Amino acid sequence: MPRIQTATLQARRFASRPALSHGVDYAALMKGRMCAGDYRENIMTEQDTPRGALTVRISAMPADTNANGDIFGGWVMSCMDQAGGIAGVERARGRVATIAVDAMHFIRPVRVGDVLEVYTEVGRIGRTSMKIHVEAWARRFQTSIHEKVTDANFTFVAIDDSGRPRPVPAA
Ligand SMILES: CC(C)(COP(=O)(O)OP(=O)(O)OC[C@H]1O[C@@H](n2cnc3c(N)ncnc32)[C@H](O)[C@@H]1OP(=O)(O)O)[C@@H](O)C(=O)NCCC(=O)NCCS
Repeated sequence: MPRIQTATLQARRFASRPALSHGVDYAALMKGRMCAGDYRENIMTEQDTPRGALTVRISAMPADTNANGDIFGGWVMSCMDQAGGIAGVERARGRVATIAVDAMHFIRPVRVGDVLEVYTEVGRIGRTSMKIHVEAWARRFQTSIHEKVTDANFTFVAIDDSGRPRPVPAA
């Protein structure tokens, strides 16, 4: 069955339900802003578990939106960089600088009112560098739904007061 037709059937089936339930905006679904695939994905991702330690929690505000009304990917990346930096400073016991970020794929949007939760896990430690796995999750507005938005591996370099690389101390 074509996707759009499936979406219409889903919209009819849920027409009598509250506007927002289980993280699904039924009003948006009926207006065609959301498709049935999004609905199924929402339900399925409830089982996922974040990797790492919760490092940053922040509300997504209207000032952070793009022309679509969704939150800027750059804002999410900035929060991830900050969270990775916090984990890096703790591990390196001092200043760090972001030197690289690997490829990122945004799985689904963040919306105004969602709480962005960023998890970090320190991975490989080099001489002066640290690879930190960072995951961004959205806690959907006024629900307990928790969905992964994106993840990436950030590399931070421990730096001294002059901004030059310094060895990462032993754990
Ligand atoms: C971070 C900085 C001080 C490192 O100085 P550098 O002379 O380039 O450092 P080095 O070549 O000695 O490399 C330092 C470490 O980074 C690693 N590294 C260098 N380039 C890398 C890259 N593209 N990806 C991953 N790791 C990298 C090196 O392997 C080395 O790790 P190791 O010591 O564990 O083996 C310097 O590059 C810098 O100031 N960059 C700008 C940082 C910044 O402003 N970030 C925010 C951007 S807005």
